[in-house]
Amino acid sequence: MLEPKRYKGLKGGRGSGKSHFFAEDVVERMILDPNHNVVCIREIQKSLKFSAKKLVEDKIREFGASSLFDITLTEIRRVGGTGVMIFQGMQDHTADSIKSLEGFNTAWVEEAQSISARSIELLLPTIRAENSEILFSWNPTNETDPIEKLFKEESDSSICIHINYTQNRLLPDTLRDEAERHLRTSPETFNHVWLGDYKKQSDALIFKNKYRVAELDTTGWERKYFGMDFGFSQDPNAAVRVWVEGTILYIDREQYGIETEINELHYLIDKLDAQIKQSVLRCDSARPETISYLRNHGYHNATPVKKWAGSVEDGIAFMRSFDIVIHPDCKKIIDEFSRYSYKIDKMSGDITSIIIDAHNHGIDAIRYALGGLITNKGFFVVSG
Ligand SMILES: Nc1ncnc2c1ncn2[C@@H]1O[C@H](COP(=O)(O)OP(=O)(O)OP(=O)(O)O)[C@@H](O)[C@H]1O
Ligand SMILES: [Mg+2]
Repeated sequence: MLEPKRYKGLKGGRGSGKSHFFAEDVVERMILDPNHNVVCIREIQKSLKFSAKKLVEDKIREFGASSLFDITLTEIRRVGGTGVMIFQGMQDHTADSIKSLEGFNTAWVEEAQSISARSIELLLPTIRAENSEILFSWNPTNETDPIEKLFKEESDSSICIHINYTQNRLLPDTLRDEAERHLRTSPETFNHVWLGDYKKQSDALIFKNKYRVAELDTTGWERKYFGMDFGFSQDPNAAVRVWVEGTILYIDREQYGIETEINELHYLIDKLDAQIKQSVLRCDSARPETISYLRNHGYHNATPVKKWAGSVEDGIAFMRSFDIVIHPDCKKIIDEFSRYSYKIDKMSGDITSIIIDAHNHGIDAIRYALGGLITNKGFFVVSG
């Protein structure tokens, strides 16, 4: 991010340090060059209160550089030079008024997910000083947003980094707690808000409003099941432990392995449960040779799960009949539940009943684990 580039993008979830980084960056530019001009831009800026001005002022103080700047109500001037920092909304600009920005060396566009195609078109040719740079920070929202398009098209003259709170070494505890609370209470929107994924058509989610993240006490619970989905390079191996108690379906262990050799599968499986070798392990029937290998190597009860036309749909319906609870440590399963979707018809935008075959390794393993309870003639009634 510190190397020269025409367009620089910092995108990602909340609390990842995007604003702080660019605020420090623009202050540094003005400290190093007393004639450096910076414009801080938003699509809409109703008042300076909603600009980066306050953050920039804090950075100047933090750097002990107050004597180099003259801070007024609307702008920040460099003492000992011609440099100035101003704060503007693109919607207040016209094709004529934007020309006032021609002498600016750096433009920083905050909340760039809201920037319109018109604003990008107006701004880019305006910032034209030699070696000038345009910085963008944003929380990704839609893949089709103009800002996403810009970075896709300008990959040679740009650098773009995706960053999340998990990589922010200066993250305050309050924000970390907030992220964890969000994951527990609204797992469907967690990936968008905190991990910077595009906003989903959440209506297409197969398990929308059908699961929650929590830790449960399983003392005294008896119905414990194990399932495994096989993969190799692109697809991981996924193994799970699930519990059924009354109306609750509780997934509390997950093990994923990418490019796991057949003779290493036991590393994954053994972590599921101390009694795994005495238990039934229901597996993906597409790999009889792997199941046979497992049976010959201590997992005598590894069993292929029956498939039939509609077995995936039946399994999903069965799972949805429960109150599904996922242990907070099962991060990959949580992620799959927040992505596993029905296909959306491209022409009409309607949600179809076609299940997209992605984000389902752990979910398939759960379905297999429950294989003994699901048949093509209907479900076994599970009750406390
Ligand atoms: N360079 C830094 N110096 C001091 N604190 C920092 C720095 N970078 C990040 N932080 C801490 O991390 C928090 C999150 O950073 P920041 O507000 O820049 O994130 P952001 O990615 O802009 O988030 P949002 O998407 O919510 O706007 C800050 O409130 C601050 O406490
Ligand atoms: Mg920010």
